[in-house]
Amino acid sequence: MENVTKILNGSGIAQDIRMELRAKIADSRTKPGLAVILVGHDPASRMYIDFKKQASQEVGLYLETYEFEEDVKQKTLVKLIDKLNKNRKIHGILVQLPLPEHIEDIDILQRIDPAKDVDGFHPTNVGLLAVGYPALTPATPKGIMRLIASTGVDLRGKDAVVIGASNIVGKPTAQLLLNERATVTIANSLTRDLRVHTRKADVIVVAVGKPNLITADMVKEGVIVIDAGINKVGDRVVGDVDYENVSKLAAFITPVPGGVGPMTVAMLLENTWEAMRHSKGHQE
Ligand code: GUN
Repeated sequence: MENVTKILNGSGIAQDIRMELRAKIADSRTKPGLAVILVGHDPASRMYIDFKKQASQEVGLYLETYEFEEDVKQKTLVKLIDKLNKNRKIHGILVQLPLPEHIEDIDILQRIDPAKDVDGFHPTNVGLLAVGYPALTPATPKGIMRLIASTGVDLRGKDAVVIGASNIVGKPTAQLLLNERATVTIANSLTRDLRVHTRKADVIVVAVGKPNLITADMVKEGVIVIDAGINKVGDRVVGDVDYENVSKLAAFITPVPGGVGPMTVAMLLENTWEAMRHSKGHQE
């Protein structure tokens, strides 16, 4: 029988989530407030921030943006975060990564009040996720799990392979899959034979930034493929998967663009809503 591949429509699911949030925010006495901090002029970061700002406005979040030159002092960012931590109109604080070399990411991320850490990068939130009590969960991994949930496939006992071991995507995604009781392998750039792992996988999540890293000979029929890669090739945006050929074998696959990306933004908005709902003194 011909394999029928289902495309996981991240744009559509994300739009439904945004519409739901917009309705809840319109009905809410308190408006969720998000502060976005961008340092430097990295074009990819600029693009992500613009998506986040646009979506925030669409759902009716209160938004403050702070932009700094590349040479900003760490002290300046720390002071701003201290101020935002105390600001009652702000429920979520997001520092776009990567930060310039002279700034210690960990010092900045640890300065954010864990209750306002809508990216879920503070070690407290990372730890809560690891012990199975997630509070604020990183947006891309959370979006990936929603996409997998939309397939209706039960993850218990399934073989999942996560390619890429970053703190932003790979590690938290592996943790979430583990919390769903999948058998999880995390591959990194030193993994000897990636194919050995991917060929037996029921679920593959790839977040590396290398076009065509995953080819058809590396996957088994019926696999779920989640592609979190975003690469510019000429004037096209592609993921890390040879979509044309892998999609012939997969049961479910995310397109790029229109898969994981819009889900990341929707999950950030949802996290800001949740941070507001759980904030001190919040009443309906
Ligand atoms: N850089 C790449 N992805 C992300 C993200 O999800 N959040 C932040 N803050 N920076 C990023």
